[in-house]
Order: sequence, then C-alpha cells, then structure tokens
Amino acid sequence: MSKYLEELDLEASAPLEEPMRQRYFMAKCGEIIRKKEMALGRKLTFYDQTFGCQMNFKDSEKLNGILEEIGYVKAESENADFVYYNTCTVRENANVRVYGRLGTLKNYKKHNPEMVIAMCGCMMQEAEEEEKVRKDFRFVDIVFGTHNIFKLAELLYQYLTSKERVFDVWEKTDQIIEDLPSDRKIRFKAGVNIMFGCNNFCTYCIVPYVRGRERSRKPEDIVAEVEKLAAEGVVEIMLLGQNVNSYGKNLEKPVSFARLLRQVEQVEGIERIRFMTSHPKDLSDELIEVMAASKKICRHIHLPVQSGSSTLLKKMNRRYTKESYLELVDKIRKAMPDISITTDIIVGFPGETEEDLLDTIDVVRKARYDSAFTFLYSKRSGTPAAKMPDQVPDQVAHERFDRLLKVVNEVARSQNSRLAGRTEPVLAEEVNERDPSLITGRLANNNVVHFKADPSVIGTIVPVVLEEAKGFYYLGRIADA
Ligand code: 5AD
Ligand code: SF4
Repeated sequence: MSKYLEELDLEASAPLEEPMRQRYFMAKCGEIIRKKEMALGRKLTFYDQTFGCQMNFKDSEKLNGILEEIGYVKAESENADFVYYNTCTVRENANVRVYGRLGTLKNYKKHNPEMVIAMCGCMMQEAEEEEKVRKDFRFVDIVFGTHNIFKLAELLYQYLTSKERVFDVWEKTDQIIEDLPSDRKIRFKAGVNIMFGCNNFCTYCIVPYVRGRERSRKPEDIVAEVEKLAAEGVVEIMLLGQNVNSYGKNLEKPVSFARLLRQVEQVEGIERIRFMTSHPKDLSDELIEVMAASKKICRHIHLPVQSGSSTLLKKMNRRYTKESYLELVDKIRKAMPDISITTDIIVGFPGETEEDLLDTIDVVRKARYDSAFTFLYSKRSGTPAAKMPDQVPDQVAHERFDRLLKVVNEVARSQNSRLAGRTEPVLAEEVNERDPSLITGRLANNNVVHFKADPSVIGTIVPVVLEEAKGFYYLGRIADA
C-alpha cells in the first residue's frame, strides 16, 4: 500500500463526531511535526496575517490555538513554517493588498521547503477569489473559508500526507463546533462569539454572503466558556456577533440578548462585559433596562448609524429612520446619562446628495458620538448597491468625507472631556508605548486614560482621577486609597 493510501485508511478510522475528529487530526499532525522537528533540529513556527474585523481576529485566535496544540510555535515574521492569511472582503480593493503581500511569501517558500501557506477568511468565500488563488498563486497550499476554520488540523493533515493542494470552502453551514483550543493575545481580556453570520442584507455589505445566515450559540455553552475564561483570570469579556441584538432568535428555545447578558453577569470574576455590534433596528427596551441596572455591563454602545438621511437609510435597507435612530439615542441617554455611544458611518453611498450629508452631520452632532469609524463607500460587487445608479464620484465623496471627519472629531473631542475631574474605575491594560513610566487603560465607556503606575497593576481595575482631558484621551493619577 502506498504511503498516501495508508494515510487515507487512517483517515477512515478518524472519529466522525466533532470536535473529537479534530482532536484526532491535531494529534496526527503533531506526530508529523515532531518528526520534522527531530530532522531539522528546531521547532516549527507559524505566523498569521489577519485582516478585517473582530470576527476575523477571533477566528485567528482559534486557528492559532489549533496550530499551537499541533506543536507549532509563534514566529515573529512571515518567514515561518506555516503562514496563513485570514482575509477580509468588506471593501472592494482589499484583495489587491492581500495579493500584493502574498508575493513575498513565495520568496520565503523558495528557501524553506517545509513552508506551508494557507488562505482563509471572507475573501475565500467568493468563488472568483478562490479560483484566482487556485490558478495564479500556485504556491498557496491550503484554502478554506469562514465556515470550517475548526477543520484546520484535518486540512493540514491531508496536505502533509498527500502534498497535494487542499481546497475546502463551504457555501454555508448550520454547525457550530465548540471546545477547540484558542490562543488569546491578552491574558485578562477575551472575545466570546455568541453568534455567527448576519441576516440583514444591508445593500452595501458583503458580510451576509460570506459569513452566512445567523446562528446563535446556546446560552449554556456561552456561559460555560465565560466561566472557563474567568477561571483563567479574564476580567473583561467582549460578546461578539454581527448583530448581537438579534441573538437567540433561532435557538430551539429562543432567548433574548438581554437575558443572555443577565446570565453572563452572574459569572464570578468577570468584572466588565462589552458587546458588539448592535443594530439599531433591534435594540430592545429590555436591553436598555438590563444595561442600566448592571454594574458589570460597560457604559458603551457601538450603534452603527451608517447615514443620517432617511432616504439613504431606506436604500441601504437599514430599517430605521433618522428620527427613530435619534429617539433611540435619547432613550439610551435618558436611562444611562454617562454612556458613550460610538458609530460607523459610510460616506458616498450611491445617490448621496449634499442634503443627505447634512443630515448625517446633524445626526453626529445630535447623537454626540464619542468616536465614529468613517468609511468611504466601496462598491462591493455582489451587493445590490453596486448596481445602483448615481454612484458618487470619488472626488465628491472624498470632499464630503473630510467635512464629516472634522465634525466627528470636534464632537468626539468635547465628548471625551466631559469626565474630567472625576474618579473612575480603569482597567490597566499595557505599558504606554511612548512613555514607559505610564500605564494605558480604559474607562468603562471605552475612553483611554494614561496614568503613572507600576506595571504590576496591568490586568486589574484601579480607581483613577481623570486630571486632564486631552481631547481623545485623559491624563490621570491613581486615586489615593
Ligand atoms: N463600503 C464602505 N463601508 C462598508 N462597510 C460595510 N460595507 C461597506 C462598503 N461596501 C462598513 C459599515 C460597517 C463596517 C464594519 O464597515 O459601516 O458597519
Ligand atoms: Fe453587514 Fe448590515 Fe449585517 Fe452589519 S448588519 S454585517 S452592515 S449586512
């Protein structure tokens, strides 16, 4: 029997149930990697290049966890034995950047025959991109998508034993595979997926096409993960979903997001709870009530408005109006006067007029955002908006973008000084990069503060007097005991 057939036979004896199946392949890959280590007299290394949103970064933590379990160690550069690109495709030209970078990997591979190159993430969910990698980037060995990241060990095993390129992109899935390793970057903060996918189909957005329909994890699985994180020393968690406000609707026993928060709040050791992202159309009164009553849920809400114009919002399929959005903001502020609200805004959506921009500027002033991510509209082929008439010329969009940014910064500056003089709990996060005598931390509302302290405070919540507002951050000192 050839080596490959022998291996195929082995594959047939692999458990069928997940996650046992992947545990099996991690062990099998581990055996191969250990043999290679012996032959080379060194550890094998991995490196990830992650593009895009929090979801992708969370996925990379899981992929890195699998690679570490197999025996790879993290490298400092792309000149490593296993390199993967976890790609984003929200903006049309994102692929240009990715393909540009891929070229350097080819050179590394020439000098390192052990090198394995993988591509995954949202870009790979698009058939044309998968095809392009297949044809034009023949040095890429493994390609998979957003739905089967849990399968990395199996795909790697298949590649290592056959030396044939492996392409495995799923169009969709209803599976959620739990209990696989994960490699967290920060010891005291962690992201927790509560749901995957999106059902909203905003007309500019590619996400529902590449991440599939909404699937929620069961509350008991989420709580169990949070308990495990708390036991490992995590004090702050970020609950992640494209639209957390519609969490739980598709569960066998439906549960609201607010109820999930109540359960997560009970976990001892967790001191701060954040979540992202909230779609304004689904934000319930129940959620506002639960937040307002909670000592752990942070006073921060990311509430993407996208545009302040009701006409454009309709074209974007956002299902709220300028007025209803501002009413929602008022309701939130009434319940939690010290809350910080942040947003995403797109400038240059097809058909955008001067009046539409003025509506957006008006909302920025009225909603009083602490910060806003502003995006130039990118014509994403495959989305309905790409076919809409009246695409805005680049120059006009840029000019509007600059005007909007000025207002965003002006409002953010004044919002970010309103706590000056107060003493607030701050999670000490890291030594300041520019001045190592300072520690950088975050308030519950996500504002940044720098203060003098010993690095031993990192990972704990300390009371800090916010002595000076600097516009986009505060300077403070630890409050006297
Ligand atoms: N063009 C510009 N911005 C976009 N976003 C999503 N799709 C596009 C696009 N085609 C922005 C939205 C979303 C954020 C994550 O990315 O503002 O909230
Ligand atoms: Fe994209 Fe809209 Fe879904 Fe957000 S809610 S991921 S913008 S489709």
